Amino acid sequence: MARIVVLISGSGTNLQAILDAVASGRLSGEVVAVISNRGKAYGLERAKKAGVPTEVLGFLPFKRAGRSREDYDAALAELVQSYEPDLVVLAGFMRILTPAFIDPLQGRILNLHPALPGQFPGADGIGDAFKAFQRGEVDHTGVMVHWVIPEVDAGPVVATAVVPIEENDTLETLEERIHRTEHELLVSAIDQVLRSSND
Ligand code: GAR
Repeated sequence: MARIVVLISGSGTNLQAILDAVASGRLSGEVVAVISNRGKAYGLERAKKAGVPTEVLGFLPFKRAGRSREDYDAALAELVQSYEPDLVVLAGFMRILTPAFIDPLQGRILNLHPALPGQFPGADGIGDAFKAFQRGEVDHTGVMVHWVIPEVDAGPVVATAVVPIEENDTLETLEERIHRTEHELLVSAIDQVLRSSND
C-alpha cells in the first residue's frame, strides 16, 4: 500500500475526496498523515473523523523566533519524512514552498491548482480567472495536478481538466464547478501516479 501524506491549509474538501476514495477502495493507498500549517483548518477534523493522524506546523513560531522560511520548510520536510511517504499531496496547502522542502522529497510531491498550466498561478486562481472572464479575455479555465518544482503552480503536468465559464456564472457558481472537477481530477491523478509507480 502506498503511503500518502496530505498537506492542507483550509476546508479540506479535496482531502475528503482522497479519504473517500481510499475508503471505497478506488485508491490503493493509505493516508498516513494530514499536516496543516493552520490549527483551525477544518480539514483536520475530516482527518480525525477518518482516523488519520494529524499534525499542525505553523510558521508564526518560526517567525517569532527569527527563523527563516527555509528553516520552516526544512522542519516541514522532516515532519513529512517521518511518515515515510511514497507520495505527498498538496491539497490546498497555501504556502509557497522553497527547495528546503522540495529537494528532500523531490519527485514525490503533487500539487493541485484550480487553473490550467501557465494560467492564473497563486492563491486566487479561481478569482483571477473569473476577473479575466469579466474582461472578456477567457471563456474557460480549469484544474491541474502537477509535480512540484520551485516555481509556483508550475511543474510537469499529471492531469488537467477544462472547466467552462458560463455567461450567467457568479464567482460562487464557478467555484462550485471547479471544486467538483478538482475532487474527481485529484483522485484520478493520484490513482494514475500510484499505478505507474507499481509498473
Ligand atoms: C482548492 O481549490 C485548491 O485547488 C486550491 O485551494 C483549494 C483548497 O480547497 N489550491 C491552490 O490554489 C494552490 N495554489 P479545499 O481545502 O476544500 O480542498
